[in-house]
Amino acid sequence: MTPSKKKSSPASWRHYNFTTAGPVDDYLYSMLPARDEVLVEMEQYATEHNIPIVGPAVARVLQQLALMINARTVFELGSAIGYSTIWWAQAVGESGRVIYTDGDSKNVERARGYFARAGVTKRIELHTGDALEKLSEQKHEFDIIFNDVDKEDYPRVLRLVAPRLRKGGLFVTDNVLWSGRVAEKNPKDAHTKAILEFNRKLYDSKEFYTTILPIRDGLAVALKR
Ligand SMILES: C[S@@+](CC[C@H](N)C(=O)[O-])C[C@H]1O[C@@H](n2cnc3c(N)ncnc32)[C@H](O)[C@@H]1O
Repeated sequence: MTPSKKKSSPASWRHYNFTTAGPVDDYLYSMLPARDEVLVEMEQYATEHNIPIVGPAVARVLQQLALMINARTVFELGSAIGYSTIWWAQAVGESGRVIYTDGDSKNVERARGYFARAGVTKRIELHTGDALEKLSEQKHEFDIIFNDVDKEDYPRVLRLVAPRLRKGGLFVTDNVLWSGRVAEKNPKDAHTKAILEFNRKLYDSKEFYTTILPIRDGLAVALKR
């Protein structure tokens, strides 16, 4: 095909200036079913103590993805008080396994209490320390690897993931739109630059088929080919 010489006009299928912020976002959250008592308490605790959990709209996507591929094993990098971990644990079922990792021992102790109350203790292996180190020690392939650590580590996480994920497995990453800062002209901030590098490499990778879902702060879902 010869490239068109016509000046490009805005594509009719683009929803320019349409945003899921504000009232539309409220609508999306209003659609969510009520959560278990423990999850509601965790959401309140996270709000009061400024803990950056994924929240129920993204958590529902995580659980749906796990159910779609019948996931039984999940490795989570950056688990905090264990909110997203519980959603994974519910999805993998009784015989499933979720690896929780966090560098803060206070988070680990709080998460342990929530897991017991949610009835998912047996499905979760807790690890205190560096999540990337723990992932690099893994000898088995997982169905899902979920990345929610410090943003400057995202490019390094990407280098570790592929050999530890099964074919047809999912590599899922939170905060890839970074409150919209990914669209800045010349971002100086190291976190934004790391996320931009990560997103570009993930989309360019031949090992993954990737889409960023623009829900909340952006969720990258990458299928391992
Ligand atoms: C965004 S929070 C995780 C929230 C959790 N995924 C949820 O949605 O419920 C990030 C957590 O990752 C932990 N963290 C950041 N970098 C880490 C690393 N390299 N190793 C282990 N934990 C890390 C922090 O202590 C923090 O609790």
